[in-house]
Amino acid sequence: MSATGRLTRVPGLLYGGDYNPEQWPEEVWAEDAALMKEAGVNLVTVGVFSWARLQPGPTSWDFGWLDRLLDLLHGQGIAVDLATATASPPAWLVRAHPDVLPVRSDGVRLEFGSRQHYCPSSPVYREAAVTLARRIAERYRDHPALALWHIHNEYGDHVTECFCAESASDFRRWLRARYGSLDVLNSAWGTAFWSQRYGAWEEIEPPRDAPGPVNPTQTLDWRRFCSDALLACYQGEKDVLDEVSPGVPVTTNFMSMFKPLDYWEWASREDFVSDDAYPDPADPEAHISAAMNYDLMRSLKGGRPWLLMEQAPSAVSWRPVNVPKRPGLHRLWSLQTVARGADGVMYFQWRASRAGAEKFHSALLPHGGTSSRGWAETVRFGAELAKLGPVAGSVSEASVAIVLSWDSWWALEQEDHPSTRLDLKALVSSWYRELWLRNIAVDFVPPSADLSRYKVVLAPNLYMLRSEAAARLTRFVADGGHLACGFFSGIVDEHDHIHLGGYPAPLREALGVIVDEFWPVPDDASVPITAADNASVPVKAAADASVPVKDAADASVPVMAAADASVPVKAADDASLPVSGPGAATLWSEWLEVTTAEPVASYGAGPLAGRPAITRNAHGDGVGWYFSCHLPSALGLVLDAAGVRPVHETPAGVEATRRGRHLFLLNHADAPARVSGLSGIDLLSGATVEGELELGPLGAAVLTPASER
Ligand code: GLA
Repeated sequence: MSATGRLTRVPGLLYGGDYNPEQWPEEVWAEDAALMKEAGVNLVTVGVFSWARLQPGPTSWDFGWLDRLLDLLHGQGIAVDLATATASPPAWLVRAHPDVLPVRSDGVRLEFGSRQHYCPSSPVYREAAVTLARRIAERYRDHPALALWHIHNEYGDHVTECFCAESASDFRRWLRARYGSLDVLNSAWGTAFWSQRYGAWEEIEPPRDAPGPVNPTQTLDWRRFCSDALLACYQGEKDVLDEVSPGVPVTTNFMSMFKPLDYWEWASREDFVSDDAYPDPADPEAHISAAMNYDLMRSLKGGRPWLLMEQAPSAVSWRPVNVPKRPGLHRLWSLQTVARGADGVMYFQWRASRAGAEKFHSALLPHGGTSSRGWAETVRFGAELAKLGPVAGSVSEASVAIVLSWDSWWALEQEDHPSTRLDLKALVSSWYRELWLRNIAVDFVPPSADLSRYKVVLAPNLYMLRSEAAARLTRFVADGGHLACGFFSGIVDEHDHIHLGGYPAPLREALGVIVDEFWPVPDDASVPITAADNASVPVKAAADASVPVKDAADASVPVMAAADASVPVKAADDASLPVSGPGAATLWSEWLEVTTAEPVASYGAGPLAGRPAITRNAHGDGVGWYFSCHLPSALGLVLDAAGVRPVHETPAGVEATRRGRHLFLLNHADAPARVSGLSGIDLLSGATVEGELELGPLGAAVLTPASER
């Protein structure tokens, strides 16, 4: 970010998208620039896939067209997010150096003809990419249209790993730097198991297809290495841009909660975070997972504004069935990104392609041109976004944090675990959903974060936990925080070796429990959960899963009523509030012993009947909660006990978030909704609101205190 707190020097919020002029005759460009102006576009991303056009041969360069284009855009007052164009090497490069092409784990080398066809460890690719980035930077560093550098495109898209000989040597280099000696590596990898001991570095290979399960620490290190290998590609280009064009912010576009790349590390190398987000209009809860991704993007750089670099104005072209956005949805979902910290709304892409794999992908300027519904929305939304200029640069505050660790994610989802059904993204989403339903603001944090500003820390499934991070979580509880840990947390150290002494050994002090044995729940089965007989915290009954909770004021009751295993769990008569989510625990259960904790809920049937399922442990000034089963709806207990308040109370389906003094209200329902207790001016409509406001179906308001306008 610049010193002013804005992402770029362009005032207000950013609006625009990927612009691929090389796909069109030059006569079209003038029309593009004029229409961009009409739509309120102030930034376009240029050159993402232009390598073959910019460098038609090993020693030939063609920048004339890009000179003319940038001059034209600048003439219309449109700034440029200039790509380094390195995401797809040209045909001449891969024919001259076939080993640039990536190799799969089964040994098959992928061919030219799509995109992102490169081996991240290829010295030829890396050198060619850095040379191209330097040529572009040297030529355009002083161009007045240049606002931002866009390195590569979606690192890890299509190809996240390469198993060629060059990658194998790079992996060995990486391992030498990590472990120093083979003895240390052998110990970290546990190679005494299955006679896997290494006597020379050259004996080590990537985890290619093998007869049976591959060493889990080798596989884990491979994932760490693959993230780092792509990061080295990024860093090579970043160093060039910082040297040649200092002061111009640099980003590379992320892919939301993306498993292959450790975005904590990646974000630390960027000037600001940018993201590509494609929620599916066919998914009725897409806006909840989208909110989670946006909160993650905001959190990756400690809450600073980020940029939505790409979204689709309507349908994408890469799902089996590509459902368009119904009228109003594009506007609502775009506002949601701003509500959760984006300082700009950008798209793939400006003008719909006539040819190629993405010709059916929606665009700001559809094939139907300016008479289409899509174009009308493009112009209308551009004008609306311009009204939200005062929001730019503002930040949000949260008293709840979710711990997310890529290391733990990679380790959790390895084979040969008690259950291979654990999908971290789904587990985190299920906890996040409970916060979203209650309008509770949340940050994501890495395990190394300072937690002192939070009231509640949630660790959905923190399988891999270093001792220092466990000590930090324990201190957080002792200092008065509420820690809620999901099952199968604190199980292994950074080498994927079990923490001995009774699971979850490094968290036992904070949680006051010992897991005697894991009892994963088979697919399509569930275990009823009952209020524990001696529960000293209020536990009431759960209700039908189909009723969403949104009235967070008294969302204090989400533990299940007792029920027979074969009968669906229903709300008990005294349930003062319905909860969403399953009526019983699925996926996982545990034989749990309490040491200092007290049971809050117990298993209601089966071999674990009567044993503790959810516990609370008073430790120091705080409480350590443990969920030995998958029952996210019970999180309300923790939030309530910690006194966490919603941003604003709203009816079901209405999302409330705050950025600085601005209150965003977004109605995701297809029916009108009334929100009360409001005061301010709606930046979108200009209306003064006092007391109640009716939001139409998919309606939105952005309220700012009248004194701030
Ligand atoms: C990604 C890519 C774009 C385009 C879009 C299509 O975001 O970065 O080049 O392929 O997907 O949705």
